[in-house]
This record gives sequence, C-alpha cells and structure tokens, in this order.
Amino acid sequence: MDWGMKNRLSRIIKPKDKRTVMLAVDHGYFMGPTHGLENFEIVNKILPYADALMLTRGALRNYIKPETDVPIVLRVSGGTSIIGKELLREGIITSIKDAIRLNVCGLAFSIMVGSEFERDTLLGLSKIIDFGEEYGIPVVAVTAVGKEMARDARYLSLASRMAAELGAHMVKTYYCEKDFERVVETCPVPIVMAGGKKIPEKDALEMTYNAIQAGAAGVDMGRNIFQSENPVAMIQAVKAIVHKNFSVNEAYELFQKIKNKE
Ligand code: 5RP
Repeated sequence: MDWGMKNRLSRIIKPKDKRTVMLAVDHGYFMGPTHGLENFEIVNKILPYADALMLTRGALRNYIKPETDVPIVLRVSGGTSIIGKELLREGIITSIKDAIRLNVCGLAFSIMVGSEFERDTLLGLSKIIDFGEEYGIPVVAVTAVGKEMARDARYLSLASRMAAELGAHMVKTYYCEKDFERVVETCPVPIVMAGGKKIPEKDALEMTYNAIQAGAAGVDMGRNIFQSENPVAMIQAVKAIVHKNFSVNEAYELFQKIKNKE
C-alpha cells in the first residue's frame, strides 16, 4: 500500500487503537432534508467529536467550513431517491477529480448485493476502487440493505466479503445479533457498523458495544447520533465505547451526565 493510501486510512482509523467513530450525514443524497440534517446546525456541533465525516460533495461545500480538520469520506454513489421506483440502482455521482479537489480522505460507494441491480453497483464500486488505487484514496463499500433484503450474518458476510474481494479498503455494514463475529472474521478489511433507524439511546449503545466486542473497527453512525435527544452527549458516549472500552452502562451514564449538564 502506498504512503498516500496509508496516510488517508490512518486519518480515518486512528492508529493508536485501530478504531474509528465516523459520523454519517450523507442521507440527503436519497432522502432529502432528513430530520436532524435540515441545516447542519447539529452536525457542526458534533463534528469536533467525530473521527471522520461521511457526506456528499453538496453538503460538504454548503454546510462545512473548509478550515475543518476532520477527514472527509465522500459519498460517490447515488442517483436514485426514496420515492422513485429504483432506489437500489445507484451509480457513480462524483468524479475522482472533484473528490481530489475536495481533499477527501476516503470515498464511499453503496452496493446492493442480491438486488436486481447488484451488477451495476458492483461494477460501479470496482471503478471507484480503480480510481482510489490510482490516486491513493481508500474506498468504503457500504453494504446497503433494501426492504426485501436479508439482514443476517449469512447475507452480511457475503456482501462484506465480496466488497473486500473487489478491493474495498473498508466495509460499512449493518449489525446482526446472531453471528456478527462471522461477518467480521470473514472480511479481510476493517468493518464499521452502520447505525440504522433511530432506536433508544441505550439500545444504540448496546449495539455499538456488541459490534466492537465482535471485532468491528468502529461505527459509521448517523441517525442514532444526530437524531438523539442530545447528539453531543450521544457521540461522546459512542466514542467512549469505541475508544475507551466503556461498558454499555458506563457509556449510558456518560450520556446522561453530559445531557444533564447542558
Ligand atoms: C445508506 C447509508 C446512509 O446514507 C447513512 O450513512 C446511514 O447511516 P445511519 O443508518 O447510521 O443513519 O449509508 O446505506
């Protein structure tokens, strides 16, 4: 691996413990003004606590100050919407030149394994990985799950391993209660857990704890942080599990302590 690739990866996954808390705020690319992301006021409050920020080029240019010293992981797949007929048919939406212009540390691309459009998305991912290899920019493959698609270890390990075999440098995948270790163990590149729909804070902390125990390198979490009743407290609680090995109860106590202080 070349120096540039290693350097960018080490800005995303912290070398001291090989873990990361990525903040995912890319939802607008297919969901429009998602609750909590209406104007990025919340994002700018929690940004100082994030190890990396995942978003689109439009959100980056419009809402984030260029002086920000948080590594950017740029979403480069999209082209379909939550109300359209072909939500899972994502393609490449950003050129590598624009990603370089934005000085990003990583590229993120969703794959829809098992869907009607899996081939389009897998070929799109491969193209982005070729660009990434050419310019030293790591690629995070996102194993998206459609309404009708499975969310068990069998499916998630299939999609994650395929992404790594196609050359992805990191994989973002969903958590499953049974055998998540298998998903992590059979994927040769770091796995970060996606948060999914908003659930109670303690449950999200428990899911984070379980994923880390199973070997995940961290999280790439969105709604369970920015839609929390206190996003600043929530990101710090998640961070405490990921980087300080807090238990669920310790992290939840921290969440409440910070929340009550504000
Ligand atoms: C879709 C995505 C989302 O855009 C987002 O990053 C998901 O984050 P969360 O589920 O934690 O809100 O990756 O596949």
